[in-house]
Amino acid sequence: MDLIQRAAERLKQANELSLVEKAAAKRHEKPEPPGSDAPPRPAGSAPADGAEAAESAAAPAGAPETDIGRTHARQFALDLAKLQISGFVTPSGSRTRIAEEFRVIKRPLLLKAFATGEERVEGGNLLMVTSAKPGEGKTFTAINLAMSIASERDLHVLLIDADVQRPSVFQVLGLPPQRGLLDLLSDANLSPPDVLVRTNVRNLTLMAAGTPSLATTELLASQKMVTLMRDIASRYRDRIVIFDAPPVLASSEPSVLALHVGQIVLVVEAGKTGRRAIDQTLSHIGSCQHISVVFNKAEKSSGTDEFGGYDYGYYKANE
Ligand SMILES: Nc1ncnc2c1ncn2[C@@H]1O[C@H](COP(=O)(O)OP(=O)(O)O)[C@@H](O)[C@H]1O
Ligand SMILES: [Mg+2]
Repeated sequence: MDLIQRAAERLKQANELSLVEKAAAKRHEKPEPPGSDAPPRPAGSAPADGAEAAESAAAPAGAPETDIGRTHARQFALDLAKLQISGFVTPSGSRTRIAEEFRVIKRPLLLKAFATGEERVEGGNLLMVTSAKPGEGKTFTAINLAMSIASERDLHVLLIDADVQRPSVFQVLGLPPQRGLLDLLSDANLSPPDVLVRTNVRNLTLMAAGTPSLATTELLASQKMVTLMRDIASRYRDRIVIFDAPPVLASSEPSVLALHVGQIVLVVEAGKTGRRAIDQTLSHIGSCQHISVVFNKAEKSSGTDEFGGYDYGYYKANE
């Protein structure tokens, strides 16, 4: 029984299923993507400058960088050992359970992100991570996905903290707050490169949520945000851009963001997020045609690991 079947079984028992059954069935109709772990190359993109083997993706701060790095971006060193102990994927190459799970989760996302021809997904490299409610694991998922993808040769990731009401990416990564998304929206003199933060993970760049203001919600729903999303899409078309978004049922921003991203990763807390909440959530973000469902904190397999595991499924709108 594979991951998806097991996830379907578990949720069936929890009585909250049809979406997941569909997801499981859908997955089984599709052949496994080729190449166990090799992500597709971004169409038309040049490899990142000085890209080394995946194992050496953790580079000393100041190493040669891609064009993101050639900006006057600030630079911080992440404490990778500490992050690994806290259960995060790091580019050290260790085959931890969480690293293995994210290898499985990222593969179909990367295939879509850089698909060409008839399979091409408009804005497929722009990924929003969201969930129905707070605390279901969006930030945990967004950071791990970003780390896992950044560990790949030639793939550059920009992780944007778009949960402007409850930003936590920088805090979780042990970094001080920075200017970011909200500053871009409120200061016409700033452009994305001005607020990027480079890290000692060679292919990982960050953008903080930025300086809160009274008009935070309005800013995210404004025409400026639409313009900014278009700007980010065209500047970073050869990168994976991950938005750690607010919860859908607590804010209007994700439904706005859903209009501009090519893919959504919907985090569902196994055994907690109810069927009704999932349905409501999907109705808010259904403008995006490519929604992957990640079952977070799924049952531990044998009690050998302290972290709740992940399973994932696939949801296609209007099916
Ligand atoms: N799979 C997981 N394994 C272990 N801890 C997790 C997992 N998913 C989430 N957490 C923890 O649960 C808490 C809430 O997760 P978080 O990602 O901050 O939620 P959200 O961003 O959706 O509000 C955090 O302390 C996070 O570290
Ligand atoms: Mg969060």
